[in-house]
Amino acid sequence: MRVFVTGASGWIGSATIDELLAAGHEVTGLARSDASAAALQAKGVQVRRGDLDDLASIRAGAEAAEAVIHLANKHDFTNPAVSIAAERGAVQTIGDTLVGTNRPFLLASGVAGLTQGRLATENDPSPFHGPESPRGGSENLALEFVDRGVHSVALRFSPTVHGTGDHGFIAVIAAVAREKGVSGYPADGTNRWAAVHRSDAARMVALGLAKAPAGARLHAVAEEGVPTRDIAEAIGRAFGLPVTSIAPDDVQDHFGWIGTFFSMDLAATSTMTPELLGWTPTGPTLIEDLDAGAYSAHAPVSG
Ligand SMILES: NC(=O)c1ccc[n+]([C@@H]2O[C@H](COP(=O)([O-])OP(=O)(O)OC[C@H]3O[C@@H](n4cnc5c(N)ncnc54)[C@H](OP(=O)(O)O)[C@@H]3O)[C@@H](O)[C@H]2O)c1
Repeated sequence: MRVFVTGASGWIGSATIDELLAAGHEVTGLARSDASAAALQAKGVQVRRGDLDDLASIRAGAEAAEAVIHLANKHDFTNPAVSIAAERGAVQTIGDTLVGTNRPFLLASGVAGLTQGRLATENDPSPFHGPESPRGGSENLALEFVDRGVHSVALRFSPTVHGTGDHGFIAVIAAVAREKGVSGYPADGTNRWAAVHRSDAARMVALGLAKAPAGARLHAVAEEGVPTRDIAEAIGRAFGLPVTSIAPDDVQDHFGWIGTFFSMDLAATSTMTPELLGWTPTGPTLIEDLDAGAYSAHAPVSG
């Protein structure tokens, strides 16, 4: 299949294109810089130059492809409105382009905010609708295109897609720990994060392209919920730092923007996804990764 991938140079995207190429797909990746274009070309991926705000390029990429996987995100967590608007615009453009084609359209999503007080499942619809909502309501926007002849599939990643080289949430929390000289967890640290290793997440995306029915919500979840206290203790071991609780009133001040996420219970199951795709996670757990030095072995010395 000719597959157009946005975010192909990213953490999940670069592992995903390896899986797609190994499965025999012809991949075109969106690249916004010379460095990203060169990294894609080195892997044998064709390059379409463009930015998330360059909707003409995204439209042309989707038109020329037999499937689209949308993984790009501005990730401006200090100014979320910017990321949200770009996400909504890109998903609307890809959906509009694919109307009536029945072509696969897989898009990145997450498990945050799906449920309160219980594990989120693939059956839980996203409560986020409209351009002002988290991720611009892009999961529901994409799934609404199913009725218009688009084979939309939501890729709900765990809040940590971990591994060596990760620059995502766990790396940010580890950086806060090093800066503060203490590895903190919010309150009693019993709130949990689902987790998945990058290799398993990428394999799930490739299997999702091959097997997921239109409208499916896939959960890239290998561990249902790792307590934040366990995460903080592993970061403490990795960097030789003391571990402590951070009172709820001090979380924002201590952690900055990541504190909002680190305080949330982001636990989820993945039951239907393995059954649907024949997907079995095999990578190391989050704590195994932390203990093996995935976040500390090559970490720069902090000032
Ligand atoms: N990693 C996780 O733990 C996790 C968890 C839940 C959901 N997700 C979601 O999964 C998706 C992929 O995440 P990731 O961890 O792979 O992200 P990432 O490593 O930050 O990669 C982001 C990708 O988007 C591209 N990009 C950023 N701004 C762009 C712009 N203005 N125009 C065009 N491309 C742009 C980047 O290109 P450059 O390489 O040129 O910078 C990169 O390819 C995202 O939607 C993310 O929110 C990730």
